[in-house]
Amino acid sequence: MIVQKIKTTPKKIGVFDSGAGGLSVLKSLINSQSFEEIIYYGDTARVPYGNRSQKVIIQYSLEALIFFKTQHIDLLIVACNTISAYGLQSMQQASSYPIIGVIKPGILALENTIKNKDSKILILGTKATIKSNLYQTLLQKRGYHNLSALATSLFVPLVEEGIFEGEILDSTMHYYFKSYPNNPDAIILGCTHFPLIAKSIAKYFDNKPLLIHSGDSIMQYLQKQYPLKPTTNPTKITFFASDNLERLKQTAKLWLNQP
Ligand code: DGL
Repeated sequence: MIVQKIKTTPKKIGVFDSGAGGLSVLKSLINSQSFEEIIYYGDTARVPYGNRSQKVIIQYSLEALIFFKTQHIDLLIVACNTISAYGLQSMQQASSYPIIGVIKPGILALENTIKNKDSKILILGTKATIKSNLYQTLLQKRGYHNLSALATSLFVPLVEEGIFEGEILDSTMHYYFKSYPNNPDAIILGCTHFPLIAKSIAKYFDNKPLLIHSGDSIMQYLQKQYPLKPTTNPTKITFFASDNLERLKQTAKLWLNQP
């Protein structure tokens, strides 16, 4: 049973990701200017989670809660789609503050924009996220039936390498998308890394599909859930990592400044 958490407007929030990918979600949270403080924790020692089993993903997710115990946050955002698919429920059961994943907000963001239930929707994610079937099931429940899902795991190391465009990415996209016969109406970027290559993905499909981004979706969701007000001071961000904090900070500098 999930314990109902007291709903205070969050001022100090945590962001948890398997590594650096959650920075794409962090960016949307910073841009919203709605939070006084954000604690970002990336499990950089054990990334990627997307190729791991459900059991291990749940174990790692619960271990992250031990880290957040001393941070006194009002709310935790699970930026990682893979953890949102497998670990979220166990985390919610084990914590005293609300924990929100990115999958439900992503579905709601899509539903807000794509009204035609016959629309062609392409879901991209890690192997684990696609295998969980969660996006597919939730979309089907809402009447969308023209669904395709592709595990595009190679995008993750490319983005980690700072490759956001160019021939290696183009041939990787061709490798994954050549079997996909349609031009989708919408693409769910169901992995924290994919917003960084959103422009290239959109270009591949002639800039036609609507792209659903976890960071933007979670902000829309939070704005509906809480009476968030703009903060007077810039959000204070503190980074933590299970390995190589300096590398995470360098990646943050690069990614958070991407247009
Ligand atoms: N953060 C993960 C996600 O959004 C991608 C990286 C990983 O496999 O851990 O699914």
